[in-house]
Amino acid sequence: MKEWDSFDKITDAKGMWLIDSKGNKLLDAVGSMWCNVWGHSNQQLVKTIQNQSKKLQHSSMFNLTNEPAEKLAEQLVRISPGMHRVFYSDNGSSAMEISIKLALQYWKNIGNKKKTKIATLENGYHGDTFGAMSVGYVPEFFGKFKEQLFSTIQFTVPNKYRMPEKYSISDYESFCLDKIEKRFSQKENIAAFVMESGAQVAGGVIIYPKGFQKKISQLCKKYDILFVLDEIATGFGRLGSMLQYEEQNSIPDIVSYGKMLTGGYLTMAATLANKKIYDSFLGEFNEWKHLFHGHTYTGNPIAAAVAHENLKMYKKNNLIKKIQKTSKIFENFYEEISEIDIVGDIRHKGMLMGIELVKDKSRKTPINPEKSINKIFFEEGKKNGIYLRTLGNIVMLVPPLAISESELDLILKKTILTIKSAQTKVA
Ligand SMILES: Cc1ncc(COP(=O)(O)O)c(C=O)c1O
Repeated sequence: MKEWDSFDKITDAKGMWLIDSKGNKLLDAVGSMWCNVWGHSNQQLVKTIQNQSKKLQHSSMFNLTNEPAEKLAEQLVRISPGMHRVFYSDNGSSAMEISIKLALQYWKNIGNKKKTKIATLENGYHGDTFGAMSVGYVPEFFGKFKEQLFSTIQFTVPNKYRMPEKYSISDYESFCLDKIEKRFSQKENIAAFVMESGAQVAGGVIIYPKGFQKKISQLCKKYDILFVLDEIATGFGRLGSMLQYEEQNSIPDIVSYGKMLTGGYLTMAATLANKKIYDSFLGEFNEWKHLFHGHTYTGNPIAAAVAHENLKMYKKNNLIKKIQKTSKIFENFYEEISEIDIVGDIRHKGMLMGIELVKDKSRKTPINPEKSINKIFFEEGKKNGIYLRTLGNIVMLVPPLAISESELDLILKKTILTIKSAQTKVA
């Protein structure tokens, strides 16, 4: 905190650019924390917010409902194969808390008292609240709260760059899956397997080998374990498809969306469940099968209206096709980025790239400077007119999804300039 004695104030933003109070322009390579879809100040979304705010700003979802929330729920169920109902919240962490509570309570509702444990992948991230920290335990982030977190069963994720040398990636994937199956077959206490869909993002952009997620979903079915996915950072086009679970052929029992759901304009998240889960919550009042969970701003009509419009725009503008084409620009820079001395690995899928920085390429030793890498890259990026944010020793590129080819090209050029000028400061 001491490093950040002052912050620049962002006062305006247009398209892919953030503008600070001194008039400096920064290219938004972070997508304003991975959620921006159309760029800033999109007129259609702004108009939707204005129109809805004239009619109904907020009304509770306790005993009542509202039109935008209903329309959005229908739309979400329509685009989400296998899903039946929607539970709203106002941020991704809460959506994950709801996922976890739904999964645990499902077993109680159907009278199974044994299934009380959550299984997950090491290095996953699901948010900063206590349940989300327990399930997505990143030691560097959450070590200070370890004693307060509930225990989970963690499995190794096949990380190609950092796997033991004796394996090929497919052998290592089989090794990881065998461990999962062995544990599943021995224990009857696992309620659900929770994982990020398609890739671990905050954990360092670890893109799963093709088929890995599908195989976990199959193991869950085989051993009667609920399969719970987190599409908050990876769904809605970030990895190049509308829903990663569709691309990965791995339909979950419960799935959460957030971030890009409103185009990045207002705060809203959603947890969807299939009919089996939903039906288990139906009962007489005195059976106490209902879910005790609700937030003040659950189903906020302005957020729901802008999310609904955002999803309509995805379809109208054929956004997923556009992302698939634009994201090829990343590939033009693979070689130039990998040749930089402190770059150990680059990992890319769709509109997400992680550049892993190392002290020593052959030994893959992570760099560990005195000042935070994030601070150094933020300052160097600013000099080059780009907003960059690193996570640990990974430079993250997470641009607004509708970015043009020329603007993405500029992001990559400015990123390369920044890594080169920052390398003497971090190495
Ligand atoms: C995969 C994943 N799940 C959950 C969250 C938490 O979302 P929020 O920051 O909206 O609480 C994040 C945030 O980065 C995320 O990346």
